[in-house]
Amino acid sequence: MSILGADAVDAAAPFGRLVVNAGDRVTPLARDRAAELGVEIVEAAPSSPRVPGAPSAVPAAPSAPRGSLPRVDLSARGALPSPPVPALFRRGAPYPGLRGRSTPAAPSAGSRTPPAAGGGRVARVTVVGAGNVGTHAAMRLAETDLVNEVVLVDVVEGLARGVALDLTHAAGLLGFASRIRGESSIAAAGRSDYTIITAGRPRQPGMSRTDLTATNAEIVGTLAEAVGRISPDGVIVVVTNPLDEMTELAWRRSGLPETHVIGMAGLLDSARFQALAALASDGRADAVSGIALGSHGDEMVFPSSQARIGSDTASARLGDRFAATVDRARNSGAEVVGLLGKGSAFITPGLAAARMVESMIRGDGALLSATVRPHGEYGIDGVYVGLPVRLARAGLAEIVTLPLEAAETVALREAAAKIRVRVSELPAAVMGG
Ligand code: NAI
Ligand code: 2OP
Repeated sequence: MSILGADAVDAAAPFGRLVVNAGDRVTPLARDRAAELGVEIVEAAPSSPRVPGAPSAVPAAPSAPRGSLPRVDLSARGALPSPPVPALFRRGAPYPGLRGRSTPAAPSAGSRTPPAAGGGRVARVTVVGAGNVGTHAAMRLAETDLVNEVVLVDVVEGLARGVALDLTHAAGLLGFASRIRGESSIAAAGRSDYTIITAGRPRQPGMSRTDLTATNAEIVGTLAEAVGRISPDGVIVVVTNPLDEMTELAWRRSGLPETHVIGMAGLLDSARFQALAALASDGRADAVSGIALGSHGDEMVFPSSQARIGSDTASARLGDRFAATVDRARNSGAEVVGLLGKGSAFITPGLAAARMVESMIRGDGALLSATVRPHGEYGIDGVYVGLPVRLARAGLAEIVTLPLEAAETVALREAAAKIRVRVSELPAAVMGG
């Protein structure tokens, strides 16, 4: 007889089913968790042996070659009958920010989640670039208490160590157990489960993200190569701009599978829409859902068919202000740059990068926007672009096919085509080929 807690449900979440044996007990918390994640609890047939090698009653993962991506069209299976809506959850339930697997919901940028029980931790996350975004990503990761060690790396001597020590002091206030270390090279950081790359130059007033290409390509290319060597089984989350091109570059130079190299932008752009739509409707951001896709920049695609405020479509609720809100979300990066006068936005970008790593560690199955490399999904092939995804421990688990309107799919394909052109313009030497 085993007692199965919420951690068993977390581990089973990527498979959608938790198989229990006769006599096993499932705790009430685990049942709540299963309901929130949409994990079905099923009893094994009496003659079925326990799945060999699987922890407790967690079913074994379907085997797939490393880096291969199962193609899942949920809308075709009828699992996505309606566009994303905010998840309902019981007050005090353990994972308020998480969404069920079969009821896609908007990205949740601000979830407040307690530490995962049992096997929900990983050994090390390295954050390269101990600047503004890196510091906030590291702080949020430490706060989640899902990581044994968070390592900050920066070329500026003393910077990463200084930030790491400052962040270590925060444990006295926030009560996390993660250790924080600062280093001046990725090699010194050591093998990592996840590496977030924020190293590079940020935008300054008057600069577009693309103006950063030459400088940041050099930095990201060299770093990605080192990460591929030092952490060959790890996952890279790219943050450095221009995001779409830098993600493709990091994938090519790292030598890692496509599923292990993911870019962060859509989650930030989605969070911006949620927050701005809440202001425009005088409501709460967590009552707003919506998902930003496409490119991080002018070709951001925001499908109105997927945007909700409460039970209304966001376009119906906001009327004329809907388009203005989408535009403001699209241009929020520039708006913040203009106000700061030096550097670019960093708080929500840092949180968004940490949220992606958190989703992978927990295997929470949340629907997020991330920059990934599709093979036929939405009619796009072989170029990094922002799409709806679910993440798992080893990176990209699936690209989710949302029921977009025809014009939205066309806009997404156009965004991908423009990214492809920009990638083709990167010097072959930088791309490593
Ligand atoms: P920052 O200037 O505060 O920090 C960047 C850090 O990278 C600096 O401390 C610098 O010393 C370090 N660095 C440079 N080369 C390095 C190397 N080879 N190894 C290790 N560290 C190195 O800049 P911030 O605000 O943190 O932004 C970082 C990047 O993230 C920028 O490219 C920015 O445009 C991008 N960004 C992307 C967003 C997105 O949605 N994808 C959102 C916000 C920022
Ligand atoms: C942002 O969107 C500059 O990409 C950065 O804030």
